[in-house]
Amino acid sequence: MSVIEINHPLIEHKMTILRSVDTDTKLFRENLNEIAKLMTYEATKNLKLETTEVTTPLMKTQAYVLQDKVALVPILRAGLGMVDGILDLIPTAKVGHIGVYRNEETLEPVYYYCKLPTDITSRKVILVDPMLATGGSAVYAIDYLKSQGVTDIIFMCLVAAPDGIAKLLNKHPDVPIYTAKIDQGLNDNGYIYPGLGDCGDRIFGTK
Ligand code: URA
Repeated sequence: MSVIEINHPLIEHKMTILRSVDTDTKLFRENLNEIAKLMTYEATKNLKLETTEVTTPLMKTQAYVLQDKVALVPILRAGLGMVDGILDLIPTAKVGHIGVYRNEETLEPVYYYCKLPTDITSRKVILVDPMLATGGSAVYAIDYLKSQGVTDIIFMCLVAAPDGIAKLLNKHPDVPIYTAKIDQGLNDNGYIYPGLGDCGDRIFGTK
């Protein structure tokens, strides 16, 4: 069981832009995708390779290609904000969607949509949601993926609250958590602080 906080000067800089209340929708979207891309470099370090041969202009030589096939699964809606950045690095990944929203009173996850690649059980799944707050949606999404036969999952978020991390590690200790930041906590409305506010609203300009 593992939580990996990815530290990088570029991520630090871009996180400051994301956190700022003065950042507009366009800049927010761009920086979110750029952080997701930088995180993908680190989160895919353990992808399996297979040996092949390539002919350079000079000679044949041993080379490597990815053996693992990847499926990217954003939790709707905020997870969509990370998809383009990740696909920039793994353009062959298939993309599934899981729709779970948070009941604002109970903070419990409410399921409303799911569409996954048909071969998802043979793929390494990168489940993404920018905010790991109570952990309810992530636990729900992983429960669902496992119920469909998926066995190889990593979870990637930008900001994680200690409560959400604890819940996810407790329910799914086999799923590594990659995050750019571990923040201080959750307020009474279930928002991460200092956080960056409602990520979905900031991505889509719905506030
Ligand atoms: N979802 C968000 O968008 N922001 C939070 O702080 C918590 C959950």
